[in-house]
Amino acid sequence: MSKTAFVKSYGCQMNVYDSTRMQELLTAQGYGLADGPENADLVVLNTCHIREKAADKVYSELGRLKDMKQARENAGHGMVVAVAGCVAQAEGAEIIKRNKSVDLVFGPQTYHRLPAMLRTHAETGRSIVETEFGFDSKFDGLGGAQSRKVLKQGVAAFLTVQEGCDKFCSFCVVPYTRGAEVSRPVAAVIEEARVLAETGVKEITLLGQNVNAYRGKDAAGDVVGLADLVTALSSVHGISRIRYTTSHPRDMSDDLIAAHAENPKLMPYLHLPVQSGSDKTLKAMNRGHSAQNYVETIAKVRLARPDIALSGDFIVGFPGETEADFEDTLTLVKTVGYASAYCFKYSERPGTPAADRKAQVLEDAKSDRLFRLQTVLAEQQTTFNAACIGRTLEVLVEKPGRMAGQMIGRSPYLQSVHFDGANCRIGDVVRCRIDGLTPNSLSATVVECVLKET
Ligand code: 5AD
Ligand code: SF4
Repeated sequence: MSKTAFVKSYGCQMNVYDSTRMQELLTAQGYGLADGPENADLVVLNTCHIREKAADKVYSELGRLKDMKQARENAGHGMVVAVAGCVAQAEGAEIIKRNKSVDLVFGPQTYHRLPAMLRTHAETGRSIVETEFGFDSKFDGLGGAQSRKVLKQGVAAFLTVQEGCDKFCSFCVVPYTRGAEVSRPVAAVIEEARVLAETGVKEITLLGQNVNAYRGKDAAGDVVGLADLVTALSSVHGISRIRYTTSHPRDMSDDLIAAHAENPKLMPYLHLPVQSGSDKTLKAMNRGHSAQNYVETIAKVRLARPDIALSGDFIVGFPGETEADFEDTLTLVKTVGYASAYCFKYSERPGTPAADRKAQVLEDAKSDRLFRLQTVLAEQQTTFNAACIGRTLEVLVEKPGRMAGQMIGRSPYLQSVHFDGANCRIGDVVRCRIDGLTPNSLSATVVECVLKET
């Protein structure tokens, strides 16, 4: 009987991408994919270290896995437990010291060696820690673009084009867990997109910790930016929608902004984190831009693409943040107007400059600010969604809904849209008139059911 593996993903979309690639690797090695850890021969936790709570989740999951592993061993089966991702990178061998049931620890830049690590572990019975950086051949080591055919993809897929960060925001672990900025060559990205399109993918989200800082080599060996990559990707037959995330305000170049005006495949949605609206806090965060710079960038983007929806990330309670600083954030939010957003309480991350600052904000103040900011952003989201009522939007059909004949798709603004779509096929782009709001989605009526030629 073939072995089974269970891969659990925490954290960001890049971890989701990495987990998919690990599943592809394991499937190619003959593993079946289990839908839970209980009956799996191999359990991989692909972890996130961005905030304390994210890392804590991993340790409580490891506690549960220890008992499961013991129960399986008592029943005569084994269970290999692997910790991958950013906690693995940050804590390395410490994880095995704290949790004797962990067999493998490997960071985001070494997961292509998982099959080799499993072989060595099976032969020696010893635990293995692999956390060195290199980026040597991670993507080559994953088996090339054809390996993207191993698993059935949906109609929307992630594609990592850039990894790592050189910006060193003072609160952030990413430069330490993912390493320095590295971009994949244009040809490798296009080839992967082509293979994904062959499997039925219509929408691609280009991923990078600083995706708009993409600097990849083209066929001539010249270094090109994200705007050129998007242009090249637009000619891949079958790909009708392109997105990218996450961007840094400092890398929102004029040609990328122009691409939003010129390229109909580039979706009118931009996730552009600002973190704070206070110049004093932005400086302390080492963001390298002011609140005014950000507002001006947004104005340029809106000029290029007036119907664009904006999304952002915010941190409340950064060390030294006063009530007046926080009010500057509320003011910026009101000036910009977001369609969606993520807010976080500042979390001290060991090894980052901000963690050593004395003026840490009290937990009560953080909770109060989080609540107030979330209230304003939730109102903005509802306003944005309500303004879609009566509009006709192009919706990518993703899956059947719960009711007979009902289909669910995604709008250009990443809203979930449900509609009566008995005649629609998964992967079609249909024109829908938005009729109403439900708590987490929009309801709509199909106006025209067309398979868009791309
Ligand atoms: N504390 C709280 N939020 C953080 N983020 C990154 N580091 C921290 C931290 N130490 C948030 C930022 C970033 C998002 C991915 O996570 O808003 O944009
Ligand atoms: Fe978490 Fe950042 Fe690592 Fe993504 S890159 S998994 S958000 S720590």
